[in-house]
Amino acid sequence: MRILGIESSCDETAAAVFDTKAGLLGHALHSQVALHAPYGGVVPELASRDHIRKCLPLIREALRQAGCTLGEMDGVAWTAGPGLIGALLVGASLGRALALSLGVPGIGVHHMEGHLLAPMLEERRPDFPFVALLVSGGHTLLAEVQGVGRYRILGETLDDAVGEAFDKTAKLLGLPYPGGPELARLAESGDPKRFRFPRPMTDRPGLDFSFSGLKTFAINTLREAGDDPQTRADIACAFQIAAVESLAIKCRRALRETRIRHLVVAGGVGANRLLRARLAEIAAAEGGELFYPRPEFCTDNGAMIAYVGALRLAAGEHADLTIGARPRWPLDELSPIDGVNP
Ligand code: KG4
Ligand code: ZN
Repeated sequence: MRILGIESSCDETAAAVFDTKAGLLGHALHSQVALHAPYGGVVPELASRDHIRKCLPLIREALRQAGCTLGEMDGVAWTAGPGLIGALLVGASLGRALALSLGVPGIGVHHMEGHLLAPMLEERRPDFPFVALLVSGGHTLLAEVQGVGRYRILGETLDDAVGEAFDKTAKLLGLPYPGGPELARLAESGDPKRFRFPRPMTDRPGLDFSFSGLKTFAINTLREAGDDPQTRADIACAFQIAAVESLAIKCRRALRETRIRHLVVAGGVGANRLLRARLAEIAAAEGGELFYPRPEFCTDNGAMIAYVGALRLAAGEHADLTIGARPRWPLDELSPIDGVNP
């Protein structure tokens, strides 16, 4: 089965072609970062309009890479949620219409299921069950992935997503949007011993996270310590260590509680070098291993949507003719698919 996948849930437009026998045949992506940068965050209406502009050219590019035509697709998958409603509707209406016009089944894919199964697109893949830490600008989630469609949420953020906390703290330090990678760079010239930020939520049981306090701590530290370039670097350094430790401590707890050995990190913040190094250490100390999708499949992408769509369409699922999208969509509402070897 050859499936076209379309992603348009937030600020990346992407398309991909996945073949259940041959694997990933093509993928193309356009990031809207530059479009939203002047506003310091994603402007939903601008995002929707840009998805409209970019969807078709990206589909053509993915097909070109795959060396096939639209008519050779056996199904179409699109991200149906969660995400920005206007943005989701662009991909959903296009995907639904394409499937109908081609006379093939279509399916709306859960964006987070895409992220959770993205490591399966790599050659070095984790075994089920694995623990997944999903960390991006929009999500902070710790889940036990028992199989396709079998996800147990172990912990979530109670306030800001960790990427959002990186971005807000970066903005405070005068760095451009999205500031996560910039903050990580600035942290390299910081003194890790000068400030000690709290490790939120680690002194109590459970696997939930909280990151809004770290941003407040950064504001207060900057006010008290005086604002100079070295202080900013020291704050970036202390913030990064605290955020990473908070994530790492919860991952260790999750591995111990579930007695699972394979740990996955995905999402934009999964690109953070300190985080990856700490998680690799923790997984190894628990007798396990760390896995991650390649960088372009850590962030939003079409490959994971085409892949999940292929798994679900191959299992006989498909959407009806309604054009629908769900800004909120709990992961545990997904149906399990048994007997597939993804
Ligand atoms: O997965 P992603 O592209 O999805 C969205 O949330 O749209 O993640 C983007 C987030 C941003 O908050 C960005 O600042 C953060 O990931 N990020 C990082 C790093 N690279 C990206 N945060 C910390 N360190 C990094 N190296
Ligand atoms: Zn995402």
